[in-house]
Amino acid sequence: MARFVIHEEKGPFKISAIEEPAFICMCGLSKGKPYCDNTHMKTLDEEDEVTYIYEGDVRYDVDEEMS
Ligand code: FES
Repeated sequence: MARFVIHEEKGPFKISAIEEPAFICMCGLSKGKPYCDNTHMKTLDEEDEVTYIYEGDVRYDVDEEMS
C-alpha cells in the first residue's frame, strides 16, 4: 500500500508554552517525527503551485512525472 500525504508547510510549529521550546515537524519530511530535524530545508525553494514527491534524497515534480 502507498499513500500520498500533502504537507504545505516549509518549517516547524514551535511550542513555546513549555520550559524548553519544542519544534514539531510540519513539512512531513523529518526522520525524527514528531520533532523537526531541519529536513524542511529541502523545501525552501519549492514553488507554490507545484506538487512534489520526496523519495530519500530525490525530489520529483509530480506534473513533470505525469506528462
Ligand atoms: S518542519 Fe519538518 S523537518 Fe522541520
